[in-house]
Amino acid sequence: MDYRDFEMNKHFHSDGSFRSKFRKSSKFMYLVAFVLFLGVALTFLNIFELHKMREDYNQHHEMFPHVEGIQDDKTGTGQVVWVQGKNMHSGYLKHVHNVFQQIGFTPGDQSDDWTVLWAHDYPFKTLSKELAHLKKYQKVNHFPGSGFITNKVSLATSKMKFIPKAFKLPSQKDQFVAFSKSHPDMMWVQKNNNHRGIQIKGAEELDMTKEGSFIQEFIDKPFLIDGHKFDIGVYTILTSINPLRVYIVEDDALIRFCPEEYYPFDTAVRDKYVVHDEYMPLWKIPSLRSLYSDKGFNFKTTLNQYMKSKGLDYEKVWNDMKSAIQQVYLEKEPKLIEYSAKYPSTDHFFEMVRFDFVLDEKLNTYLMEVNMSPNLSSRHFAQNKRLYEHVVFNVLSLVGLAEYVSHEHLDYEEIGRVAPTDVRVFPEVCNGKICSESCVSSQCKLCRRCVNRQTETFLMRAYLEHNRRWSTRRVLPPPVNQTQALLWDPATYWPGSETMSDRNRLMFHWFVGKCRQSMDFCV
Ligand SMILES: *[C@@H]1O[C@H](CO)[C@@H](O)[C@H](O)[C@H]1NC(C)=O
Ligand SMILES: *[C@@H]1O[C@H](CO)[C@@H](O)[C@H](O)[C@H]1NC(C)=O
Repeated sequence: MDYRDFEMNKHFHSDGSFRSKFRKSSKFMYLVAFVLFLGVALTFLNIFELHKMREDYNQHHEMFPHVEGIQDDKTGTGQVVWVQGKNMHSGYLKHVHNVFQQIGFTPGDQSDDWTVLWAHDYPFKTLSKELAHLKKYQKVNHFPGSGFITNKVSLATSKMKFIPKAFKLPSQKDQFVAFSKSHPDMMWVQKNNNHRGIQIKGAEELDMTKEGSFIQEFIDKPFLIDGHKFDIGVYTILTSINPLRVYIVEDDALIRFCPEEYYPFDTAVRDKYVVHDEYMPLWKIPSLRSLYSDKGFNFKTTLNQYMKSKGLDYEKVWNDMKSAIQQVYLEKEPKLIEYSAKYPSTDHFFEMVRFDFVLDEKLNTYLMEVNMSPNLSSRHFAQNKRLYEHVVFNVLSLVGLAEYVSHEHLDYEEIGRVAPTDVRVFPEVCNGKICSESCVSSQCKLCRRCVNRQTETFLMRAYLEHNRRWSTRRVLPPPVNQTQALLWDPATYWPGSETMSDRNRLMFHWFVGKCRQSMDFCV
């Protein structure tokens, strides 16, 4: 009921002068007319309310189309998400909740029959009891041992060419002292696992005794836009180890700028060279504002278009970042396999992290860190809601959570979605004499008579993922184009690799085979 209508009626009645203005005979008529008017008005109001209720109902059901279907499900497999983190009331996981709600999940906790655990912090120590005996359909948003990738010391001291040179303290102190003496021009930053407490220092000012910290080369001469240094955050999703499957959100990235211009350079002013929580958003950068704010492009397209307009090869930059991501996972996969060994299956696990890169003037790419549970809070910048929800949706879509599947079937086949016939590749080879007689030759490994059930299962998972990838794209195994696929020799490794596990080779080879069949599986 509209409050203002009620107020007006009150005034009407309480106005004493009203009645005296009219003769007694017409008073009755007015009363009847008024009552009639009131009746009609009330009827209209009711119709309006009913209409509005229906509209709300429709809107709600458009927004949450799956909710009803799942709750009515006769098999009782209503899906529950257990979102876990410290101080959740502060709302930093709001966008995670939003997306789960959109795709039909209800929030719950460990006491429920949950389908997915979305833990903000690494859960394998604190929740080891809950995670020791997972039901076959339960999924968890981390991999055991993923700290080998996201731990700053561990990552920085992995010797890869795109990681700025680093020394672990105190164990590599002597090496550092020797190195810095022969490279007096290099600047250094001291970091530790918990803080990005970054401040540039001369070699002589560093505290060499601090346990759990490291010293890293500072990348000077960064690539600047309108005088500001920036970093690029690439959202990366690991869906499988042994074989490895890694994807990135392909169509967008987080691009954050330092609040102050880099030059004139001053090590005392961190705002010139450190991207932190209070960063400067892309739309504050004059050369980018119009593309982003007026023309409505996303972060990635805005950056690419800017670089293109300056004649710079942005494709190379993205390819270098992909190649860095590939190398990190290939390097750390053995550790991940080792740490996952005590779990009966790693099919439960997936993980989304953010790789942060900076560029130098020559457009060389440097990996600064990998964030487990990257910040998805849009508290400072409401505009980031779109990106964060897009990322979360992509992750959930890729791992098959954004599409309702009855738990009964998740074991092996998802009826109508995938069947063993969908994963057959290399018909010309498998139909030939060699592979009809034995499985010894490497080219026969993917033929029906040579794949065991376990292999067939991970191939079917790969097939489903590929079809559910939304705007993510695979970085491992590396995609090939159809020309390469047709020339492919099954005895070799993937481009640029010298070693490769049998499983990884099989997985790669399978994608090559699918790419021969359909362009959709190629680059
Ligand atoms: C995440 O970012 C928000 C700003 O959007 C900030 O307030 C918050 O402290 C950040 N959280 C963490 C854990 O870094
Ligand atoms: C396929 O990839 C190879 C190697 O990267 C490249 O040389 C070739 O031009 C590509 N072919 C097509 C049709 O894109």
